[in-house]
Amino acid sequence: MEETILRINQLFKEKFEGDPVGIWSPGRINLIGEHIDYNDGFVMPGAIDKGVYFAIALNGTDHLNFYSVDFEENLRIKITDIKKSEGWKNYVLGVVNEFRKLGKEIQGFDCVFGGNIANGAGISSSAAVEGGMSFSINELMNFNLNRKELALLGQRAEHHYPGVMCGIMDQYANMHGQKDHVMLLDCQSITHHYLPFNLVDSTLILINTKVHHTLASSAYNERRQQCEKGLKIMQENKEIHSFRDISDPKMLLPFKEEMGEIVYQRCLYVVEEILRTKKAATFLENNDINQFGKLMFQTHEGLRNLYNVSCRELDFLVDYASKNEMVIGARLMGGGFGGCTINIIKNNGKEEFLKEIATAYENTFHITPEIYNVKIMDGTHRIS
Ligand code: GLA
Repeated sequence: MEETILRINQLFKEKFEGDPVGIWSPGRINLIGEHIDYNDGFVMPGAIDKGVYFAIALNGTDHLNFYSVDFEENLRIKITDIKKSEGWKNYVLGVVNEFRKLGKEIQGFDCVFGGNIANGAGISSSAAVEGGMSFSINELMNFNLNRKELALLGQRAEHHYPGVMCGIMDQYANMHGQKDHVMLLDCQSITHHYLPFNLVDSTLILINTKVHHTLASSAYNERRQQCEKGLKIMQENKEIHSFRDISDPKMLLPFKEEMGEIVYQRCLYVVEEILRTKKAATFLENNDINQFGKLMFQTHEGLRNLYNVSCRELDFLVDYASKNEMVIGARLMGGGFGGCTINIIKNNGKEEFLKEIATAYENTFHITPEIYNVKIMDGTHRIS
């Protein structure tokens, strides 16, 4: 992180004038509660020690200048000319656009940004860029939006420019992360409380498959539509307003025929995952990490068989992990179709296991996976 910050401050000096403000904006993990943030569920994310750093200063003009360190690309644009673009540009411009929609007067700025977070790895580099951009603008232009408002603004930016109809989890975790804690985020009320997360004899490890299957964002939007369709059918029963109101998966059965098999399976997954995440929170509060881990494996099964957002590479890593007694829990993390698995692994024997699984993965897919030992850190903040 320090290295990234120094490098980007140096690049800013080479490219622009003035003294920049520095903002660090993290990626996130999610322990459990996948694909239910847009279904009124609960999720359990935390911000991590990988993210994006922004060096940014007002330039007194009506132009915005960006340099993306990771893509080695410049963008110069007049504030009033901002429109939907492509790739990384959408994540920064989408945020500026949302501020303008609130009637905020954006001033010209110069900005260099980049990080140590892999794109497409399911650790939400996109929310890190959106969060860093919105926090920077809010600070520089004294707009006084609070963290929740910035998270919601980032989510709208993602909907309108990149076009992924994401839930609130990533942007919220990015803003509200707290060192050594995960948050139990209630995605219906959009409120959270923190749960201490200090593993004693085990470690949180991400294994990056290094694959990111295309169509992931259209498949994501399709899942969301399928859930909306299922919910609408269930709302014919006046007692049901939200997935939250279904306390037993059996309550779905009367709607199965009208939903059709696929929509039914999506809804079944959602209902089970909401119940599972509530249970998981109790296990974590009681420090029962073994029971917690079992639920992680169950989540993976649901994501694989009912929600259909896994892929061969992710399944390989989770199956392999499930056969080793060193592993307390493992599952795919984030949107799916590639990216990382999240694993809780016993410290004793961890290194051997990681070597073994990396070799087995490489032998099967001819890709060297990346392994991250993640730390749970604070959310987006200013670096002095
Ligand atoms: C992506 C989205 C989140 C969430 C996860 C799946 O990361 O941005 O809102 O839906 O997928 O849990």
